[in-house]
Amino acid sequence: MAVASRLDTVRAVTRVLLPTVAKGVVVRRPAVMGLAERLQVDGSAIATMRALRARYGPEPLRLRITGRSVVLLLDPHDVERVLAESPEPFALATREKRAALEHFQPHGSLVSRGPARDRRRRFNEEVLRPGRIDAAAVARDEADLLVRHAASTGVLDWEGFAQAWWRLARRIVLGLGARNDDALTDDLKTLRQHGNWAYLHPRRDRLRERFDRRLRAHLDRAEPGSLASLADPDALREQVPHWLFAFDAAGIVTMRALALGGEGAAGILEAARLWPTTPVILRESTRPTRWHGTVLPRGTTFIVFTPYFHRDPDRLPYADRYAPEIWPHPDDPALVPFSAGPGVCPGRDLVLTTAGTTLDALRAGLSFPHLDAPLPATLDHFRLRFPVTRSAPARS
Ligand code: HEM
Repeated sequence: MAVASRLDTVRAVTRVLLPTVAKGVVVRRPAVMGLAERLQVDGSAIATMRALRARYGPEPLRLRITGRSVVLLLDPHDVERVLAESPEPFALATREKRAALEHFQPHGSLVSRGPARDRRRRFNEEVLRPGRIDAAAVARDEADLLVRHAASTGVLDWEGFAQAWWRLARRIVLGLGARNDDALTDDLKTLRQHGNWAYLHPRRDRLRERFDRRLRAHLDRAEPGSLASLADPDALREQVPHWLFAFDAAGIVTMRALALGGEGAAGILEAARLWPTTPVILRESTRPTRWHGTVLPRGTTFIVFTPYFHRDPDRLPYADRYAPEIWPHPDDPALVPFSAGPGVCPGRDLVLTTAGTTLDALRAGLSFPHLDAPLPATLDHFRLRFPVTRSAPARS
């Protein structure tokens, strides 16, 4: 198996990994996102990955990082294998994820291992399964209000969209009684900001306790029609912080799908392919694994840098354009905006329903300008701002 030269390791770290960390892994940093868009950092990251593959071939590439075994995957079939063979021997709960997420969801499925993980994963699948609540109705309701608001100001920008989106998220997860509880998601945001710094930031237990108390009060209501009505509050309490946190990604993707002129679930999937909100999918091996004749030690970190796999012009003729026709069953195993295999996002269907319905309702109510191909490699959602006009009467 090839080992990257020191210079190429530095290139991979500085052009691929560091910009991703700087943008904010758990919650995006607006100033860095603006700079990242100006520099189109994802374009240079993808070019770096292509150059590495041209130089070293398709096998996993070992990086020269002292004291750690770290490999960068360069071939779609290796991505398929690592995701299919999760969580054993390729665990989702890597040391980086544990460090980042323990600030707000120490018992989440994503950071658990062994029987606790199996139990928590099943719980997520059960509650988030499609059809258990009418998420589309909530999405239409909130989108109608947003259409009215945007039509009256003539603008739809990220800030206005995000406010509506968080109301929707709180309503779906916790019910109408949480719709206006901005303090809940603001506290979570502060905890997530600490998560960006992973081990470098001290844990703020008082803030976590306050968040937990507020959350608990909403869960105890078990409001019919919300996810909180579907299970025991104690079990929910461990997983709901992740759900609320992950709704952020779903809002970002919806706004980008609007910028694309996308429609429905395929529009959401395309926005998530073009600008993945989980740009680095990490796995850590729980035992030695064999790769094309080489054995990699237990504890090896496997890095899947999704922007490269999603937008590699050498493999994908549609790399930089809107291509809804490739979904729902793309012919390439490395198109994985929601991951794949046993660790696939259990919220995927809920996201596609909620975000797809919101997207279509906004498009039905408002007219927008949209981006043309070739689409930019980096798109700063914070600065998206559409002049809008009313295109249809409001639904009642
Ligand atoms: C656009 C929106 C979203 C995207 C692109 C997305 C993507 C992903 C990806 C790539 C993973 C795998 C992470 C890894 O392997 O480290 C994941 C995991 C997960 N997602 Fe999502 N997600 C989204 C929204 C949501 C929502 C709204 C929920 C819940 C309501 C959710 C619940 C989860 C959970 C619980 C896991 C952990 C699964 C496990 O431990 O096996 N996600 N998601």
